[in-house]
Amino acid sequence: MAPVDPHSFTDSSHPFATHISLSLYFDFASSAINASALLTLPTPYSGPIFLDARSLSITSIVDPKTLIPLPFSLSPIPDPIKGQNLTVSLSNQSSFLISFCTSPSSSALQWLSPPQTFNKTLPFVYTQCQSIHARSVFPCQDTPAARICYSARINVPRQLSAVMSARHVERRAPLSGEAAMACDDALWCAEGRVVEEFVMEQPIPPYLFAFAVGEIGCREVGPRTRVYAELVPEVLDAAAREFAGTEEMIRQGEKLFGPYEWERFDLLVLPPSFPYGGMENPRMVFLTPTVIKGDASGAQVVAHELAHSWTGNLITNKSNEDFWLNEGFTTYAERRIVEVVQGEERAVLNIGIGWRGLNEDVERFKDNMEFTKLKTKQEGVDPDDIYSQIPYEKGFQFLWRIERQIGRAAFDEFIKKYIATFKFQSIDTETFLNFLKANIPAIEKEIDLNVWTEGTGIPPDAIEPVSNIYTKIVSLANEFKFGMMPREDEVADWHGQEWELYLENLPKSVEASQVEALDARYRLAESKDYEVKVAFLQLAISSGCREYYSEVEKTLKEVGRMKYLRPLYTALVQGSGKEEAKILAKRVFVEARDCYHPIAQGVVESILSKHL
Ligand code: BES
Ligand code: ZN
Repeated sequence: MAPVDPHSFTDSSHPFATHISLSLYFDFASSAINASALLTLPTPYSGPIFLDARSLSITSIVDPKTLIPLPFSLSPIPDPIKGQNLTVSLSNQSSFLISFCTSPSSSALQWLSPPQTFNKTLPFVYTQCQSIHARSVFPCQDTPAARICYSARINVPRQLSAVMSARHVERRAPLSGEAAMACDDALWCAEGRVVEEFVMEQPIPPYLFAFAVGEIGCREVGPRTRVYAELVPEVLDAAAREFAGTEEMIRQGEKLFGPYEWERFDLLVLPPSFPYGGMENPRMVFLTPTVIKGDASGAQVVAHELAHSWTGNLITNKSNEDFWLNEGFTTYAERRIVEVVQGEERAVLNIGIGWRGLNEDVERFKDNMEFTKLKTKQEGVDPDDIYSQIPYEKGFQFLWRIERQIGRAAFDEFIKKYIATFKFQSIDTETFLNFLKANIPAIEKEIDLNVWTEGTGIPPDAIEPVSNIYTKIVSLANEFKFGMMPREDEVADWHGQEWELYLENLPKSVEASQVEALDARYRLAESKDYEVKVAFLQLAISSGCREYYSEVEKTLKEVGRMKYLRPLYTALVQGSGKEEAKILAKRVFVEARDCYHPIAQGVVESILSKHL
């Protein structure tokens, strides 16, 4: 008996389920799903099996052939991070059927009432399962070490449609007898309901399970790509324009990393409360609407989520302790794609923004250096609490270091071989290092692999990028200390990313009058680009400029992306003695809380509780 993952009750001595068949009846009136899950094991098994569950009420567990109830128990006190251990006792079954119901507070699910949607007439619900929230949608061995295939029957009101990170089979009338104990047959087949069927034939880690239900429309943008969003013609058109270059990126990805294995690459633009920039759900990436800026910069986020199709979705971290294998590789792969489609200058700028982020997060964790390592120990740690740029940017730097050592041609060949070797597997850092040493002889003599993967902070052989634009922006930012601001002609061709880099390189707090002067000239607080706006507002708060509080409040109420919530709430509560800012943070959170995804609610709560 041994746990396989610090974030899961899954036990190494139990068989892993290989298939899950879900029947989901969506009850928007009570923000809950009446559901059943048929879990299939590779062979018949007798004995206990541990599953992860959170905020689920389990109605029954039966042998699907005989319908005889199987004994089960739910650990009475939920672990604050893992949730509850659902133990099922099997006697020679190879499958078992669990009937259960989700709760309105399920951490993966955000239920939007009609007024919270764009069209204001119909409800919307969507998932965010990474890192450990799939267990709040259905009981499972919620560890990326266990890969599953699945099928799903989604029963929704007929005004709505469903999308999933899976192949859509059909939309049809509900059939009597197929509810599979999710709910009564009468409810399942009631007037006005439809069923959407999906299958996922490729084995995925549970965190890649995803759906959205709402009034959803779509536009074609390429031979294997459609963009989906709430049915608002302007939003769909803008998204279709923004993502027109997607097919070209997929082709470049295939050249660099091998065949695209997931058949379709669709995009779903979510409501503004979506807590991330993007989520790499297979076959259908989920995106925040804040990436649609009308200047094709959303392509970078798409490049990142697309890159996960190889690094993360094909080769998956075995547990969150190896998270850098997902995000570091993907950041590297993303920049290789960006370099081809947007040019080297853009890629270098991204590396520069990343370098800044890495330095900042190493500083943020100065009292908790464990989380500045690539391979981290996460027993008793909530992955949402330690989310940072470190696995992304230190991971990127590690791979870039290896590339510099062996040359790009050799590194490209290595990556292709790595992907082909481990595809559809979940691996750890040691497996990667062994493969590296086996394929690049004597690499450990040139690069201190131990310092990179086990060491804290930034290794001495990590480097800041060099390019004309990058270096110029950083030096302009340094001049700000001496009261100098960039001239109009110097910023004439700056886009969002140039401003972002500039603002992030300014001192953390400056004279209030300087902040005001900068804004008077360049109108940064009103930028439509949230990266720019938030970087500016963060500086304004830290510099004690109260006149921006109303803009801060507005921003915190219109978006739920944690990349923006974290720095703004932190800036508000961090400064000692700024009572007014703390009161503002508390009030805005009380008022905006219901509009945030549960994961974002938790993260903001933990920021406020640390400082108030
Ligand atoms: N997989 C991540 C998002 C994530 C990480 C969700 C951890 C939950 C837990 C995704 O691929 C990502 O990195 N998104 C970035 C995009 C950016 C790097 C272009 C984001 O959301 O900001
Ligand atoms: Zn990512």
